[in-house]
Amino acid sequence: MKTVNNTTYKGTTVSVYDNKHEASIAVAQQIADLIKSKNEAGEKAVLGLATGATPIEVYNELIRMHKEEELSFQNVITFNLDEYYPMEPTAKQSYVAFMNEHLFDHVDVVKEHVNIPDGEIASDDVAAYCEAYEQKITSYGGLDLQLLGIGRTGHVGFNEPGSTVDSLTRLVELNEVTRADAAANFDGIAHVPTHAITMGVGTIAKAKKIILMAWGEGKAEIVQKALESEITTEVPATYLQEFDGVEMVLDKGAATKLSL
Ligand code: PGA
Repeated sequence: MKTVNNTTYKGTTVSVYDNKHEASIAVAQQIADLIKSKNEAGEKAVLGLATGATPIEVYNELIRMHKEEELSFQNVITFNLDEYYPMEPTAKQSYVAFMNEHLFDHVDVVKEHVNIPDGEIASDDVAAYCEAYEQKITSYGGLDLQLLGIGRTGHVGFNEPGSTVDSLTRLVELNEVTRADAAANFDGIAHVPTHAITMGVGTIAKAKKIILMAWGEGKAEIVQKALESEITTEVPATYLQEFDGVEMVLDKGAATKLSL
């Protein structure tokens, strides 16, 4: 039986599920409902998507809904949060490869509707490219829903400690903790890129709904800080406390250090 405990803490909805499977199904359902209601209205659904281990089961459930329940992605526009820089899209560690493997290759999304920061853009062109990425999001009326994971540094996207609340899509230097966490995927930290292109905190802030997901006790400490510590650039996820439409979706493990 599904058990979910919903609370509101300082304006953030906190939904705690028994396990990440149930939580992921609930998030996928919200996404499917958005896609369907936009489709019925003859509109596009604009999704901000995340990579990493956290959203994989959400994507699995969306694929299942596409295959078994005819959920169509034809009216879906996607913008991914980030990409390593430099990064060839064909490399197995690229977020292009990740999204193809875990979602796009298995649903009917229109290729031209998929947007992932270009890890091959020439360094002289990065600033203009990032501005165009922002403008493209705006041209679709903004993000209807942004999915987020949270890193051990408290980053959202690759907005590492030091990021400002009004930061926009830009080239950033990765934190050493983040690079260490990625080392296994790159055969050692020496091969992890030092930089990335990421949507900014201010880009995320403009999304109409934000769902931050975290699973397992390993995330409990940073989840507690994100929700309950004072807002600080040292933990960029704390900025979410002052944004509208934020839901934190957790399993029991990730919620263990919360005081609620
Ligand atoms: P994870 O990463 O989903 O692989 O835990 C989250 C993040 O770094 O944002």
